[in-house]
Amino acid sequence: MELIHRPRRLRGNAALRKMVRETRMDKSSLVYPMFVAEGSNLKEEIHSMPGQYRYSVDRMEEKLIELYDAGVSSVMIFGIPSEKDEKGSGAYASDGIVQKAFRKAGEACPGMYLIGDVCMCEYTSHGHCGVLKGQEVDNDKTLELLAQTALSQVQAGAHMVAPSDMMDGRVAAIRRILDEYGYVDTPILSYAVKFASSFYGPFRDAADSAPAFGDRKSYQMDYHNRREAWKEAMLDVEEGADIIMVKPAMTYGDLIREIKDGTHIPVASYSVSGEYAMVKAAAQAGFVDESSIMCEMAVSAYRAGTDLYISYFAKELAECIERGIIG
Ligand code: PBG
Repeated sequence: MELIHRPRRLRGNAALRKMVRETRMDKSSLVYPMFVAEGSNLKEEIHSMPGQYRYSVDRMEEKLIELYDAGVSSVMIFGIPSEKDEKGSGAYASDGIVQKAFRKAGEACPGMYLIGDVCMCEYTSHGHCGVLKGQEVDNDKTLELLAQTALSQVQAGAHMVAPSDMMDGRVAAIRRILDEYGYVDTPILSYAVKFASSFYGPFRDAADSAPAFGDRKSYQMDYHNRREAWKEAMLDVEEGADIIMVKPAMTYGDLIREIKDGTHIPVASYSVSGEYAMVKAAAQAGFVDESSIMCEMAVSAYRAGTDLYISYFAKELAECIERGIIG
């Protein structure tokens, strides 16, 4: 058989396959999302996310060190307050749970890069991502509180803030307040392209943040839309976002690629709780191999163009990179 092109030539040997790999991953681009709750000596497993826990502030250290030792040098911290109210006061209280967590994390693991998720839904009694006017989230009133939340996180030691609320104008509002207080060098990672997704179900279980009525469709995006994703990304770039995120990751690779190609800033993607829960459940049932599915999902996000990858599997991915399985 006279075949000029034999693509298999480059697949015949493990060293060669690795040499010609098109997608490279580095542990330094992994971010681990971590839940911190009030209380003491708490490490409580999240029912729908086996292997993930809610830590009390005094138990954070062991997890931070474990991650750091595995090569994961960045965490995104979510606070779970013991009390919630209409205005989500716990989100911007100087002694709020997430503020305490930042202070502790800075001491316990000084090399760790700390990112704050800026949103109200874990802190409001109604579970929506902002303050209400009737049954609707009041965009402009919420901006002030989000800005306060971001500022309080940075004052407590967050190195970067990541607004996830999907209010219009929040990147500009946060940039303004950070600059006003002298934090001109603190970057904003905007959850710019965040869809109203059923993949967040287990997170809401973990953070006790499901909306008490209605849904988030009046602020998070409709997943039929591609051009609107572009609009959201562009607006946030104009407002001063330093990094933009596409969320969820697994089913939105088309948009990761599009936004990567069309912007000049780093792109992040978040492999969310439902992605994790599905892998765990299927693996526990014996239907798929957990580690290889996890690797394939992560590599697909990098192949799509993600620069940062936020994943509950961050530590396990770092180990696979270390062992040369991926990356
Ligand atoms: C807060 C927030 C959510 C997630 C990240 N930040 C929940 C939501 O929007 O309902 C989801 C993360 C995950 O599912 O892992 N607004």
